[in-house]
Amino acid sequence: MSLYVCDSYEKLPAILKKEGVSGTRAMVVGDTNTLSLYGEDVANVLASVFTSVHRYAFPAGEEHKNLTSIEELYRALLVASFDRHDVIFALGGGVVGDMAGFAAATYMRGIRYVQLPTTLLAQVDSSIGGKTGVDFEGYKNMVGAFHMPAFIYTVPGTLATLDRVQFSSGMGEVIKSALLGSEDFFEWLLGNIYEIDEREPEVIMEMVRRTASIKERIVKEDPTEKGIRAVLNLGHTLGHAIEKFLEFRLPHGHCVALGCVAAAKISEGRGLLSTEELFEIRDVLVAFDLPILVDGLDKEAVVALTKADKKMQGGQIRFVLLKKIGKAFVAKDVTDAELFDALKFICAEDILVEG
Ligand SMILES: NC(=O)c1ccc[n+]([C@@H]2O[C@H](COP(=O)([O-])OP(=O)(O)OC[C@H]3O[C@@H](n4cnc5c(N)ncnc54)[C@H](O)[C@@H]3O)[C@@H](O)[C@H]2O)c1
Repeated sequence: MSLYVCDSYEKLPAILKKEGVSGTRAMVVGDTNTLSLYGEDVANVLASVFTSVHRYAFPAGEEHKNLTSIEELYRALLVASFDRHDVIFALGGGVVGDMAGFAAATYMRGIRYVQLPTTLLAQVDSSIGGKTGVDFEGYKNMVGAFHMPAFIYTVPGTLATLDRVQFSSGMGEVIKSALLGSEDFFEWLLGNIYEIDEREPEVIMEMVRRTASIKERIVKEDPTEKGIRAVLNLGHTLGHAIEKFLEFRLPHGHCVALGCVAAAKISEGRGLLSTEELFEIRDVLVAFDLPILVDGLDKEAVVALTKADKKMQGGQIRFVLLKKIGKAFVAKDVTDAELFDALKFICAEDILVEG
């Protein structure tokens, strides 16, 4: 699975050729926003490679990430006479990538697809690694499949149209990746706060490339999450529980940021991180508009949700902690006391009471 970071969609035909991806038909699958923003650019370049180029838009939003939307896409593929030799292009954020990828994994028992991610979260995280799927009965990503894209082609310039909240949510995953995979990259982020905030194209290109390569390296080692890949869940065990407790009112990357602070707090409590490093991590998150405190958390309820998380194995929570900045590991012995202590550290009410 190769990853290309480019300044426009112009090079897509050359990359298709290099990767040996061809076919008669292409389906550019986006959502109502991404297809109207970039669908035409992509369809135009693909017209030089495929005999027919079709477009399909899901309604935008996580609430449409379900099997009904997948069925609609299957119908569009059938109407366009798609067969196993044809190719789907997933043009959008994580929702589009997960759904188009899942349709590709299952239509005619699997056809090829290419990821064209357009949110920061998708460019640095969700487009990489071949996890596809939909939400089911209120559970996120409950139904899905591992299906690797033929390749990933990222144009960071598309981030120019992304709103501030979505951008900062993606920054949660960027900082998470630096924390678990590269101290050097963490320092680089610290040195480029202003440039990233201004979305300077060269700096954004480098940031996307470096973050994506951390995930790519780990996924290559463990494609089906049997071991080391679990470190990518840094900030996610408590993060998911917080996201669920707040009924998805807080963006995913913001919950991950809170989860990272909690994981750093437990790591500090075990003497793995210094207090200075713990506060440095909080400072970086704040610099990128990410929360380090949250109102109205019921700590008992969040711990209960954490235990219900599907990452729990054999009655134990698998919790990702930091050995140091840039190096993560999976701990199976995190106690309830440590969880409560970490949650206290991110609960606004507790911090204010302590003054
Ligand atoms: N497969 C994985 O490994 C993996 C990993 C992390 C997250 N995810 C999934 O990713 C999803 C979240 O992805 P997301 O945060 O990208 O959300 P999203 O796909 O819903 O995109 C957020 C919003 O931004 C809009 N948008 C996308 N690109 C844009 C652009 N360039 N300019 C303007 N608007 C744009 C979209 O239309 C949408 O309204 C969740 O469903 C999550 O489960 C998957």
